[in-house]
Amino acid sequence: MKILYEEMKTKAAELFPDRKFIPGEGNPNPGIVLIGEAPGGEEEKQGKPFVGKAGRNLSEFLEILGLKRQDIYITNVVKLRPTKINPKTGRASNRPPNKAEVEFFTPYLHRELEILSPEYVVTLGNFALKAVTGDKKAVIGDVHGREISRGAYTLFPLYHPASIIYNRSLKETYIRDVEKLKELLSEKGR
Ligand code: URA
Repeated sequence: MKILYEEMKTKAAELFPDRKFIPGEGNPNPGIVLIGEAPGGEEEKQGKPFVGKAGRNLSEFLEILGLKRQDIYITNVVKLRPTKINPKTGRASNRPPNKAEVEFFTPYLHRELEILSPEYVVTLGNFALKAVTGDKKAVIGDVHGREISRGAYTLFPLYHPASIIYNRSLKETYIRDVEKLKELLSEKGR
C-alpha cells in the first residue's frame, strides 16, 4: 500500500499542486473498509481521514459494531481536501469533490481495495457509492442498508455522516442500517 500511496501522492502533486495528500489508514488486513468522500479541514490539519466533525459519527458507527478504529481500514475517494475560497472571509471552506478529482482518484481506490481485499466495503454517501460501483446513476437513497455482492467483497452502502447531522429521520435510518450490518457480521461470526 505504501508504494501505491507514494505513486498517488506524486501524481496528485502534479495535477493538484499545493494540496496536502491524506492517505487511508487502519488495519492492513481488514474485514471492513470504510470509504468516505474527501477530507475536510481537520483531516487536512492532522493528515488523517475522519478525524473532524463528520468523522465523530464514526465513533457511533464503531460503537454499534463493537469495533475499534484500528480494527477497520478508513479511506476516502478523494485524498486531498476540496476547497473554495469564501469571498466574504477570504478563508478556505469545503466544497464537494469535482470531476477531475474524482476521475483521478477513483482508479486508485479500486487498487486500494484489491490490496486490502476486505470482506465488506462500507461506502458513506453518494460519491463513494458511485466510485466503487462505477455507476454514475447509483443513488444512496435507493440502496442504503443493503448487501450488494461485488464478487470479491460485499458492498454495504450507508448515508454519509454529514448528511445525517441535521436530519433526524435520516439519522434513525443510518443507525438502523448500521445495526443491520452488525447482524450480518455476527451471522458470519465476525
Ligand atoms: N472526513 C473524511 O475524511 N471524509 C469524509 O467523507 C468526511 C469527513
